Amino acid sequence: MAGIKIDGKIIAQSVKDRVKKAAEELKTQGIDPCLATVLIGDNPASATYVKNKHKACQEVGIITKDHKLDANITQLELTNIIDNLNTDNSVHGILVQLPLPEQLDEFATTSRISPVKDVDGLTPYNVGLLVMKKAVLVACTPSGIMEMFDYHKISLEGENVVLINRSNLVGKPLYHLLLEKNATVITCHSKTKNLTELCQSADIIITAVGDRNRFTLTPEMIKKGGIVIDVAISRFQEKLVGDSDYDQIIQKASFATPVPGGVGPMTVAMLLKNTITAASLNSQIER
Ligand code: GUN
Repeated sequence: MAGIKIDGKIIAQSVKDRVKKAAEELKTQGIDPCLATVLIGDNPASATYVKNKHKACQEVGIITKDHKLDANITQLELTNIIDNLNTDNSVHGILVQLPLPEQLDEFATTSRISPVKDVDGLTPYNVGLLVMKKAVLVACTPSGIMEMFDYHKISLEGENVVLINRSNLVGKPLYHLLLEKNATVITCHSKTKNLTELCQSADIIITAVGDRNRFTLTPEMIKKGGIVIDVAISRFQEKLVGDSDYDQIIQKASFATPVPGGVGPMTVAMLLKNTITAASLNSQIER
């Protein structure tokens, strides 16, 4: 029997409904939640992601400020823009879309954002809080995945989870969130030796490689009744694909996410949620 689809569109909508109510509540207190986005250069995928984020903000009553910057901007110019957003009381959340053009330093950029406006959870302060189990603003894709587990009442306690990603945006925050739920977590990457064996023994696999020429998670690599969360999205043979083929994986898994329509919508929904959290945090500080 085929497994159950973890439908990101449905779960994201339930988050958005809650965010919309919270935004209305903030407005009654005179707070008009606002997200500023910074898009540098002309990466078409990044432009699409930012456009989708703006559209979602509009749906739930969050104002957006759109900063589109030239691909050749210097680090100093970018820092000045971030500093201005940090001190602008009408802006509650700041998102600098990644990846950045080569001349810009990702750490210098993201760590310049005020921690209370850091809706990506990427500043050292917010990462530190996450490690200490005191997180307030957490990276959107990892918190979206945790929301998916919650929605389906999937218990993580004692489960063996294999993560195939070690990035600041996905693998590292997820490691801590899963550990907090008492999962046993193994973080794999391009140098991991026995990836197939590790996957075969996992109760849950969360994969985010995003390059089918390098890696495909096949049904042979998962155990019967396992759970597969596919975070990747890339173009392969004219199609948008994840790291796995959902139609095949779901025949063997107990739960799996499709691509598209899985983790992607959750990332956007959690950004909205973080913006509302940031708006209340900011207003507490202003008072
Ligand atoms: N690029 C891909 N995913 C993300 C994300 O969650 N946040 C930012 N800022 N950039 C991204």
